[in-house]
Amino acid sequence: MDKLKQKFAEKAAPMAAEIKTIIKEHGDVVLGDITIDKVYGGMKSMIGMVTETSKLDAVEGIRFRGYNITELREKLPKAKINGKEPLPEGIFYLMLIGELPTPEQVYELSDEWAKRSAVPQHVYNMLDSLPKNVHPMTQFSMAILALRTESVFSASYDKGLNKKDYWDATYEDAMNLIARLPRIAAYIYRRTYFNDKPAEPDPTLDWAANFAHMLGFSNNDFKRLMRLYLTIHADHEGGNVSAHATHLVGSALSDVYYSFSAAMNGLAGPLHGLANQEVVKWILQLREELGGGLPTKKQIEDYVYKTLAQGKVIPGYGHAVLRQTDPRFTAQQEFVKRYIGQDDLCDIVNLVYEVVPPILEATGKVKNPWPNVDAHSGVLLIHYGMTEYDFYTVLFGVSRALGVLAQLIWDRALSHPIERPGSVTTEWIKNKIASVKGTAKA
Ligand SMILES: CC(C)(COP(=O)(O)OP(=O)(O)OC[C@H]1O[C@@H](n2cnc3c(N)ncnc32)[C@H](O)[C@@H]1OP(=O)(O)O)[C@@H](O)C(=O)NCCC(=O)NCCS
Repeated sequence: MDKLKQKFAEKAAPMAAEIKTIIKEHGDVVLGDITIDKVYGGMKSMIGMVTETSKLDAVEGIRFRGYNITELREKLPKAKINGKEPLPEGIFYLMLIGELPTPEQVYELSDEWAKRSAVPQHVYNMLDSLPKNVHPMTQFSMAILALRTESVFSASYDKGLNKKDYWDATYEDAMNLIARLPRIAAYIYRRTYFNDKPAEPDPTLDWAANFAHMLGFSNNDFKRLMRLYLTIHADHEGGNVSAHATHLVGSALSDVYYSFSAAMNGLAGPLHGLANQEVVKWILQLREELGGGLPTKKQIEDYVYKTLAQGKVIPGYGHAVLRQTDPRFTAQQEFVKRYIGQDDLCDIVNLVYEVVPPILEATGKVKNPWPNVDAHSGVLLIHYGMTEYDFYTVLFGVSRALGVLAQLIWDRALSHPIERPGSVTTEWIKNKIASVKGTAKA
């Protein structure tokens, strides 16, 4: 058993026992109210599940096992040589184990993922059979499904896997899939836009830097960006579409590959992860309409009003839970200050940040007028030469695997049951209103 798995096993068994006691002794404690507006409104912030890896505060933003992004940038281990940004291996360790890792533990994890990263040829053959105009997220999701041939869980389940060992097989699948995702993503990137193959992996590099290298980028600051990018996109508690999809599909005992592919289908929606490509499209179109250069605030204002008048959302703004500027947006602004300096598109992002919130606020309906993570990420990639914006959500997906799969291992270790919330008809709701308020049926 590898050391990380051993450490997880030591944590998981007492926690599973503790949860059994909590349910037995305090199962009747009421956690919140279910109201009609919540049921029609996408269940926003309605407590309905348990996620151990991270917790989102509406004002402060995300905390991973209690640590915010600023703390993690400082405390998580860095690359051996000239490392300045956290290694995403570290946030996976933190989310899975609940403790900050030492640099050695993180380097061991890099090695472990490097060892597990070989992708079977049939996955590449399947990708090669697809036309180049298949969206990279579709290719990504299909490749993850094609990898299911490797599922330890499903092979063991067929042989009669004991319930108490579900987490062990899920751990193996999660580690193998995380190890392989950068190779698959790099393959999709190179075949789609360059008609060639990714660079051979460099086993001396960490997971994120090796990903950058396979994508075809040798710039050290781009590697730093990848480390930060893959860290800050890793998790956003359990109810967001990709995390919830993983948990929901996984709750049927579908394996890691089925569950994570489902998550990627959700991430590919424009209100979720695809917003990162939509932001760049929106900014580039603004520039094109103005004939290039830096737009004035008034020009951006007009463009925002025009977008709203067309019945479209301003991509990168708003959030289902957050009610302040996303700290992941701020972390990227800091990255620009530290490593980039002046950049026209980053300047536009900052101007948009000045213009959009008051306009959205004035609509009187947008609950959060502030930018989210996607408002910034694309222009950073363009700065380093990755201009193919319909690939950006794949990068988000590679990172999101860290959080949702750490949680899926916990789901199995804690024996979370199949998910099956109740649903009602509008007729049922009208009857309920009548009986509660004593009014005649509407
Ligand atoms: C993220 C998002 C889906 C959250 O949705 P939500 O929780 O339903 O948001 P709200 O409760 O604030 O929505 C209330 C209204 O404001 C609108 N609204 C919210 N964000 C908006 C935005 N960025 N631009 C324009 N209108 C917006 C909604 O479409 C909704 O309009 P409606 O009543 O006409 O249907 C939404 O803010 C959005 O579409 N943002 C743009 C896409 C994006 O950046 N997604 C990435 C999220 S990390």
